Amino acid sequence: MEINYIQAVRDIFAKREAPPLCCVHSYGCQQNVSDGEKLKGQLCLMGCGVTDDMTAADIIILNTCAVRENAELKVYGNIGELKRLKEQKPDMLIAVGGCMGQEPKTAEKIKKSYRHVDIVFGTFAAKELPRLIYEALTKKEFIVDTAERNTECFEDIPAVRSEKYKAGVSIMYGCNNFCSYCIVPYVRGRERSRSPEKIIEEIKRLVSDGCKEIMLLGQNVNSYGRGLEEKIDFPELLRRIDNIDGDFRVRFMSPHPKDATREFFDVIAESKKICKSVHLPLQSGSDRILKEMNRRYTAEQYMDMVEYARKVMPGLSISTDIIVGFPNETYEDFSRTLDIVKAVKYDNIFSFIYSKRTGTKAAEIIDHTSEEDKGERFRELLAVQREISEEHYKRFLGAEFDVLFDGTYKEEFISGKSGEFIITLVKGSPELIGTMRKVRVTKTHNWAVEGELI
Ligand code: 5AD
Ligand code: SF4
Repeated sequence: MEINYIQAVRDIFAKREAPPLCCVHSYGCQQNVSDGEKLKGQLCLMGCGVTDDMTAADIIILNTCAVRENAELKVYGNIGELKRLKEQKPDMLIAVGGCMGQEPKTAEKIKKSYRHVDIVFGTFAAKELPRLIYEALTKKEFIVDTAERNTECFEDIPAVRSEKYKAGVSIMYGCNNFCSYCIVPYVRGRERSRSPEKIIEEIKRLVSDGCKEIMLLGQNVNSYGRGLEEKIDFPELLRRIDNIDGDFRVRFMSPHPKDATREFFDVIAESKKICKSVHLPLQSGSDRILKEMNRRYTAEQYMDMVEYARKVMPGLSISTDIIVGFPNETYEDFSRTLDIVKAVKYDNIFSFIYSKRTGTKAAEIIDHTSEEDKGERFRELLAVQREISEEHYKRFLGAEFDVLFDGTYKEEFISGKSGEFIITLVKGSPELIGTMRKVRVTKTHNWAVEGELI
């Protein structure tokens, strides 16, 4: 007979003096944060309370990211630090999940060198959490689940969200693109899309609960719909979401430039609720490197796309991801990246030094570019972008922003993001957090603007 693991774990916990507390710490992208909320949701079903304080927790899950080596090193550092906690509380459970957990080498390394960890599980096993916890509690042995499964989407798992006023909503999982540097297709599997009905139902529920900003999530949002029975694509999904009643705004993360059609930009331009900001990961401005990366667009096609986007939305704010130092990148290649950065005038760039990921195509290339050269290029890119945003942000002086406040900055500022996704600071009380307010921009920096509530 199939065991109901949720109930079985509940029964074990019910015998304790107090319900155990769980702490789920997510690293990396928004998608992973969203997965972490569903891990918390499952733990709540098993009778746990939730805490952000690891020292108070009886169950700790590190929901990891494998996209670059430094992300992994950080995780191993954090796992090491948990050893002392486990010595003080031998009954606690420590689990390592997420993208690193999916790679078999992680379980091997943890088994060998981090004996205080109880469970290692991959992204495919996220729904198996109740069984994994049950086995760890009853068998008292090291539990590993890195099996690749034909997973459907996570439906019907309640999410425990940290904020009420903004929420990530996954619209698709996995990636089929196989950019040559990227580990994601290996640890998150093939693309699969949620049904539009489920997505819209979830958004309606969030909006009626007071959510003011919905971030649609997926590794490649604009390949949404492939493989679904109903014929639907990302622009059509955006149209339907835009038609949902209520006072909220919509963002998405991230589209792939190769799938960014004119219709995609037209829909954003015509919409009422979709923020006029897009994240368009460039990765490199050199056609030779783009080809090696398997990105399937050229610098010229990318620039045409930006030109069209700005034609239909003159105020559009654009951000990007850039990888510096892909194997055998020359300074000439890098200069092409700088050319695009200068031509587009991004509002924000997220730049990374290339990190070799075992198992990917690019990891097989013998790289002759030195780490020093890569470091120097990285710093040059940051300096160029700093100057651009310094200048470019000045266009916002006097503008009216709709700001959703979500935190504090230094002692005197409350911070939030505008529809353009620009960090906006105002002087005010923390009660502003969670509210959407109009702000007039009075001062600009190269990373944020300051303003006054209107
Ligand atoms: N090295 C450096 N950066 C990477 N990214 C993905 N894989 C790598 C890698 N191996 C970056 C890309 C991607 C962002 C999420 O992370 O720029 O868009
Ligand atoms: Fe990685 Fe490319 Fe897929 Fe993005 S689109 S997750 S960079 S393989």
